[in-house]
Amino acid sequence: MRPGDPDAVEQLFDAVAPRYDRLNDLLSLGLHRHWKRQLVRSLRPVAGERWIDLCCGTGDLALELGRCVRPAGAVVAIDNAAAPLDLARQRWNGQPWLPVEFVQADAQTTGLPPAAADGVVMAYGLRNLADPEQGLQELHRLLKPGGRAGVLDFNRLPASGFAADFQRFYLRRMVVPAASAVGLRDQYAYLEKSLERFPNGSEQMAMARRVGFAKATHRSLMAGQMGLLLLSRER
Ligand SMILES: C[S@@+](CC[C@H](N)C(=O)[O-])C[C@H]1O[C@@H](n2cnc3c(N)ncnc32)[C@H](O)[C@@H]1O
Repeated sequence: MRPGDPDAVEQLFDAVAPRYDRLNDLLSLGLHRHWKRQLVRSLRPVAGERWIDLCCGTGDLALELGRCVRPAGAVVAIDNAAAPLDLARQRWNGQPWLPVEFVQADAQTTGLPPAAADGVVMAYGLRNLADPEQGLQELHRLLKPGGRAGVLDFNRLPASGFAADFQRFYLRRMVVPAASAVGLRDQYAYLEKSLERFPNGSEQMAMARRVGFAKATHRSLMAGQMGLLLLSRER
């Protein structure tokens, strides 16, 4: 499958959705929850604010943000694939007091009004977009003046070195075999392909500045395996 092909990506995540949470827990040994918490902590959402979770998947971040901004705040969670969004809504049904609304839309062209949010997050989404720069531009458009945003994803590493060797070993020898066992080999083989076209940390910062962010910092997590891009509209 060609990374960045919108229809193929949507089909992929519809197919993966029923197994996504379990595989995520298994393959990261639960660490994805820790990285997501780090993302949220870095951005400090507070009660009463409005937040947007782009590429929300099954809703981990949207629900966590809902807990931070309740009771008077609001979260809009966006994904373009129906199956993960259905699962996110089912999870929300168990905690309907959280102020979260789920919307099916493209993260690059959400259709939401400009300056709609105090904060925007995107976890493991940017890499999948047809045009990551357009995704960052939309993220910038959605933020109010003073708004902040965070993008969490795999870290694109230089081709050689221990961290890159480990990443290749992990993706080829752990992720793909585990996914193959539940019939999702091709879908998870896509992960490594999608990383090949993904900008590295410095390129992401440059991209963020091009679309108007005054401040962009990228730091790696877990010995370089993951990357966290933190963005502010103002200095
Ligand atoms: C790897 S999952 C991450 C889900 C969730 N954010 C998480 O961290 O668990 C990527 C999600 O991005 C969604 N996605 C991919 N391209 C998208 C696009 N153009 N617009 C909106 N969502 C998109 C997929 O449907 C999928 O649910």
